[in-house]
Amino acid sequence: MSFDVQEIRAQFPILSRTVHNKPLVYLDNAATTQKPQVVIDALVNYYSYSNSNVHRGAHQLADEATRQYEAARDTVADFIQAADRCEVIWTSGTTESINIVAHGLAILLNESDQVLVTEMEHHANLVTWQQACKASGAKLVVAPIDDNGELIIDQYLSLINENTRLAALPHASNALGSLNPIKLLTTQLKKRSNNKALMLIDGAQGIAHSSVNVAEIGCDFYVFSSHKLYGPTGLGVLWGKQALLKDWPVWQTGGEMISEVSYQDATWNTLPYRLEAGTPNIAGAIAFGAAVNWFTKLDVKALLAHEEKVFSYATAQAEAFNGLTIIGQASHKVPVLSFIMDRGHPADIGFILDRQGVAIRTGHHCAQPLMERLNVPGTARASFAMYNTCEEVDILFSSLEKVKQMLA
Ligand code: ALA
Repeated sequence: MSFDVQEIRAQFPILSRTVHNKPLVYLDNAATTQKPQVVIDALVNYYSYSNSNVHRGAHQLADEATRQYEAARDTVADFIQAADRCEVIWTSGTTESINIVAHGLAILLNESDQVLVTEMEHHANLVTWQQACKASGAKLVVAPIDDNGELIIDQYLSLINENTRLAALPHASNALGSLNPIKLLTTQLKKRSNNKALMLIDGAQGIAHSSVNVAEIGCDFYVFSSHKLYGPTGLGVLWGKQALLKDWPVWQTGGEMISEVSYQDATWNTLPYRLEAGTPNIAGAIAFGAAVNWFTKLDVKALLAHEEKVFSYATAQAEAFNGLTIIGQASHKVPVLSFIMDRGHPADIGFILDRQGVAIRTGHHCAQPLMERLNVPGTARASFAMYNTCEEVDILFSSLEKVKQMLA
C-alpha cells in the first residue's frame, strides 16, 4: 500500500471549495479535521434509512440503529486496542471525557492528595483538575516546560510521589505540537507513586498522528474527540480500564444508566452504559465508526510519513522566513506550527491569510497560562492533516509575505 494525497483529497468535498475566491487551504486541523465523503454518507444514510433510538425499541429500525451504534464501539475498541469493548464510553468530546474522570476523582480525592498536570495543558485538561482540587482540597502540581515548549522530564519525574493520585498529560500540545513520551511517563508515574497514581492522557491532538495502543501505553484513561480524527463533532471517547470504570462515580443520571429504579432509590447499569445517561449521539457514533474504519484501511505508516514530510517542509520555510518566530520547538512534534511575527498581532495575520483562502487559528488556543509562560499574547497556528500538501505550504508562505508587506 502507499499514500496518494490527491486520491485522499478527492474524498473530501470541502477541499474543492473556494474562500474569498481563492482555493481553500485548510490549515486548522488541530481545531477540527475535515470529513471524507464516507463519513458524510454514514450520517446521511443513518438519518435517511435507520434513524431510531438505541437499546429501547422492539422494532426493526431500533434493532438496526442499535447494531450499527454498538458496531462502532467495537471498531473504536479495536482501533485503540482496548481490552474490552465496555471500556469505550461515548461522550460529547474530549472535554466531557476529562470531566467525567475529574468529577469522579474529586469525590475520591482528599487534602493530602496531589494531581499532576503540565504547563502545556489545554484548558480542558487544566481547569477541570484545578476545580477538582479546589473541591477536594487536593494540591494541583504543575510540571514545567522549557522555552522550546518541551516537558522537562527530570523535573516532571521529581514531582511524582506517593501522594500523587492522578497525572493528566496531553499526548501532544494543541498550541505548540510538543509530543510527550507518554509510555515512559506512565511507567515512571506508576513506579514512583508506588502504583498509587492514575494516568490520564488527553489524546485530542495525538490520536490522528500516531498509532495508539492503550494496553502498550499502560495508562488508565485515554480520551479523545471524533472530530479531530475525521469524524463528526459532538462525539468523543473516554477509554478507561474496566477495573476502574466499573465503580467510577456516576456522572449523569437518567435513562439507560440505571439497572433498577424505585421512587426512593436506584441502582446502576453495567459498563459502558452506567456512564452514558440519556439518548446518546447515535448518528455521531455510527459516523465515527465509519471514520475509523476508513482511517484504518489507509496505509497509516505512509500517511504519517506524508504528514511529516509536509510539516518538515513548512518548518524549514518558517525557519528561513525573516521576521517570523516559531513558538514551540520541541524535538518531537505533531504537525502544528505555531508562530508570531515581528509585525502584526496573530489576529491580523489570521485575517489577512483568510483573505488569501488560508485557514489557520489564532489566539491563545485555549491555553492562556501556557501563552503567559512563553510570554506571548497568543500565536498564529497552522496545523496539518493527511490531505495537506507542500503546494499548500507554499501558498501559506507566499500569503505570509503579503502579511509582511501589508503590516510593514
Ligand atoms: N482544542 C482545539 C484547538 O486547539 C479546538 O484548536
